[in-house]
Amino acid sequence: MKIIVTGGAGFIGSNFIFHMLKKYPDYKIICLDKLTYAGNLSTLKSVMDNTNFRFVKADICDREAVYKLFEEEKPDIVVNFAAESHVDRSIENPEVFLQTNILGTQVLMDAGRKFGITRYHQVSTDEVYGDLPLDRPDLFFTEETPIHTSSPYSASKASADLLVLAYHRTYGLPVTISRCSNNYGPYHFPEKLIPLMIANALNDKPLPVYGKGENVRDWLYVEDHCKAIDLIILKGKVGEIYNIGGHNEMKNIDIVKLICKELNKPESLITYVADRKGHDMRYAIDPTKIHNELGWLPETKFADGIKLTIKWYLENKDWWEDIISGEYQNYYMKMYGNR
Ligand code: NAD
Ligand code: DAU
Repeated sequence: MKIIVTGGAGFIGSNFIFHMLKKYPDYKIICLDKLTYAGNLSTLKSVMDNTNFRFVKADICDREAVYKLFEEEKPDIVVNFAAESHVDRSIENPEVFLQTNILGTQVLMDAGRKFGITRYHQVSTDEVYGDLPLDRPDLFFTEETPIHTSSPYSASKASADLLVLAYHRTYGLPVTISRCSNNYGPYHFPEKLIPLMIANALNDKPLPVYGKGENVRDWLYVEDHCKAIDLIILKGKVGEIYNIGGHNEMKNIDIVKLICKELNKPESLITYVADRKGHDMRYAIDPTKIHNELGWLPETKFADGIKLTIKWYLENKDWWEDIISGEYQNYYMKMYGNR
């Protein structure tokens, strides 16, 4: 079995590669990644010498490069993690989100058609459903919830999902889509809530909470997401969408306070800053379908996962200190300087 994993030098893609190489020692995994600011080759250093692994630096929008790789490798499966993934960046500069997230998806699917793959899997997000009100805890996103996007990021992901379904119906491309809630764990880029708060707290810097910190996210340990995708690509039904989430809703402010507690840092570091434009209030996934059809259930409880994550950031300071000492400084000043 040969699998092309795009975006494998990023957070979830790298965790997925580690999971697959460990679980299926006879599979070949080829990582295709552009190495944008979010991609980090050092993340993959533990697998670089694995003879079942190949890394190729390329842009998923580059049709020639993508076709060349498909011709060389003749993959069975493509799992597309490659994306611009940060909502705040999409608000500042939407264009690259449309290019990579929509047009890049099209190039990969065209390659899949041309070279006859058996499965194209699109890694999507619960953000395509928009948000839920705080005063209706009985409501959850199911696969039937209408698409109702809020940010340029979520609109680009939803557009890609529609294109994936269109390629299935029009050309018969064997596709699946997964829509997951917020992930956390090792190798999470420190522009996102949990790693940003851990890094800032460790450096005794202010912890910038948007608005009142009342927004709710449904957190899932990254390994559980990887296991769900593994099941979907091997056992999921072609043409289907699967929601992935752990019924683990938490307010942002509670997460930040928990990080302070775990790191023994004062809550006085918490600073309320201007809210995100169009900020989604609550995400909550109903994972009944993937549970019933594929037997998937999240295995890591948040109380354990957050400890594991904090431990990882403490033990891997080189990884994130290297990131935050570079171009990230300009990003941070731009986003938080006058907030
Ligand atoms: P990330 O930003 O950490 O990593 C993205 C990776 O894609 C990077 O390695 C980057 O170099 C690569 N990439 C970006 N543009 C590319 C291009 N044009 N060509 C090739 N490679 C390119 O993202 P992540 O958090 O790991 O998310 C991975 C996927 O999962 C995304 O599609 C995202 O929408 C989706 N998702 C993320 C979450 C989450 O909580 N992080 C939840 C649900 C779904
Ligand atoms: O739900 C899945 C999505 O989760 C993925 O599709 C996205 O790729 C991923 O980035 C994530 O999106 P969010 O916008 O939910 O994640 P983020 O970590 O950026 O923010 C989580 C919450 O924390 C959100 O309500 C905004 C808030 N926040 C974020 C940052 C970076 C803050 O209060 N302060 C911050 O500095």
